[in-house]
Amino acid sequence: MRMRFKPYARPELLACDFHVHEPLKNAGHWHELYPRPDQPLHLELGCGKGGFMAQLAPRDRSINYLGIDITDKVLILAKRKIEAAYAEKGIPADNVRIASLDIERMRLVFAPEDTVQRIYINFCNPWSKNAGSNKHRLTHPRQLLQYRMLMPEGAEIYFKTDDDDLFRDSLGYFPAAGFEITWQTCDLHKDEPDWNIRTEHEGMFTEQGIPIKALIARKLPDSAVTWQEPKALARAAEEDEAADADTAQGKEADD
Ligand SMILES: C[S@@+](CC[C@H](N)C(=O)[O-])C[C@H]1O[C@@H](n2cnc3c(N)ncnc32)[C@H](O)[C@@H]1O
Repeated sequence: MRMRFKPYARPELLACDFHVHEPLKNAGHWHELYPRPDQPLHLELGCGKGGFMAQLAPRDRSINYLGIDITDKVLILAKRKIEAAYAEKGIPADNVRIASLDIERMRLVFAPEDTVQRIYINFCNPWSKNAGSNKHRLTHPRQLLQYRMLMPEGAEIYFKTDDDDLFRDSLGYFPAAGFEITWQTCDLHKDEPDWNIRTEHEGMFTEQGIPIKALIARKLPDSAVTWQEPKALARAAEEDEAADADTAQGKEADD
């Protein structure tokens, strides 16, 4: 269901201490937004209404958290949930930040100095089933290569989905982008790990009887990356063809 525009969202977010008002200005300085900048930074991509972050972040203040979503319409709900969770515990929301950002444009907003130790991707499925839209999937190698830029070797991605096709394809995407899948399940709730925190969409899909697929992937050295951007591949092939044609012409001229 399409969410309505919420005119109050932006002003309320701008008045919130843990909302990052100008994310485009932070490249290379994300850690400095936290009072304890040396702590590890964990990202949640597509945090939606914030149920996951509101449970996770107040539990462990030795980690800094950043929740990202593309739209203020949901981020405002995340802001309220997170605020309420910290208030309930009587602690300051000093290790959490939220920001409106398009994950596909991360390259413009983060720099390699913004080291990220862990990334959570929960139920961020493709908008359309068209094969052509696969490149927009948040686990497509095109995106994974962006995340790699920020991650030291050994850093992890936790990924959950209801979507069988996306999960099956992601089992190939991660290794192609130089990640080793260290754990996976096709039914997360069958033997639910202690660390799992159920999100809003996880609850919804579970009520519908859809099993939750999940995996953990660990970053390997750059030499493990096998994926190449199709346009770059096509360009390289054209250049090879042009070079072959030049060589053939040169040979003809010699003969
Ligand atoms: C299906 S919801 C899942 C929300 C939440 N993670 C959960 O599990 O309940 C997907 C979320 O990802 C966000 N999203 C999708 N594509 C995005 C992008 N390119 N950049 C930032 N957020 C995105 C959407 O706005 C939406 O809130």
